[in-house]
Amino acid sequence: MRIYERYTADEIKGFGLLGAMPEHVGIIMDGNGRWATKRLTPRSFGHRAGMEALHEIVREAHCLGIKALTVYAFSTENWQRPVQEVNALFGLLTEYFEREIDELDANGVRIIALGDLEPFPAKVKACMVEAINRTAGNSGLNFCIAINYGSRAEIVRAVKRIVESGAAAEDIGEQAISDNLYTAGLPELDLIIRTAGEQRLSNFLLWQAAYAEFVFTPVLWPDFTPAEFRSCLAEYMKRTRRFGKVME
Ligand code: IPE
Ligand code: IPE
Ligand code: MG
Repeated sequence: MRIYERYTADEIKGFGLLGAMPEHVGIIMDGNGRWATKRLTPRSFGHRAGMEALHEIVREAHCLGIKALTVYAFSTENWQRPVQEVNALFGLLTEYFEREIDELDANGVRIIALGDLEPFPAKVKACMVEAINRTAGNSGLNFCIAINYGSRAEIVRAVKRIVESGAAAEDIGEQAISDNLYTAGLPELDLIIRTAGEQRLSNFLLWQAAYAEFVFTPVLWPDFTPAEFRSCLAEYMKRTRRFGKVME
């Protein structure tokens, strides 16, 4: 089991990361299928390779001192994929948590699920819930995994929760919506990275992305390395975030 060392400020500078580190990074991990097809292998091989890439990126996020990393692992629309692929993804998810939980926990990572876990097979659900409960008290990296996640469904859920709480219309503001999303309590989303060249959100964090920066890379997710991650962060650090204001 590996204990992840934080990079020192000098090491971070040495990577060329000279600006403020984003607190919350979202990643749309795309391109597993294309990676596998290029190698004339089944798509599930790409998902397996993608799982290895994820292991490295979670560690890198921790070492860089990022507070929250949200990864898109399975969308509400992904149920429309062939059943074998969906099952392969669930198998990998279970394997991931069984294999990684001790290391993640030992490194203080807190696992959070974004999405409705109900429709998942009992085994997948049980291992997710166990990982979430076991790490709930950890105060290191918030590792948020979006599974059976769709941002529109998330917003509908938030509105229903507010209505059910009996809140009066005049008391419902942006904060009330934010507080009822899966991401409640996490830092504002600063950056969304999407791999594999696609430039769309595909129903990921629509509300949270209001003022996020976007970095798109052609690299397919299984080929996404910590070095590529740092180069996306360097790109983010070059941006001027104005939030609607005039900058001096
Ligand atoms: C992303 O890779 C992983 C999931 C959506 C689960 P894809 O499976 O979408 O890969 P491409 O886009 O077909 O290459
Ligand atoms: C988005 O990727 C979902 C995940 C990465 C889990 P998709 O591959 O499903 O998105 P589209 O279909 O290209 O928009
Ligand atoms: Mg895709």
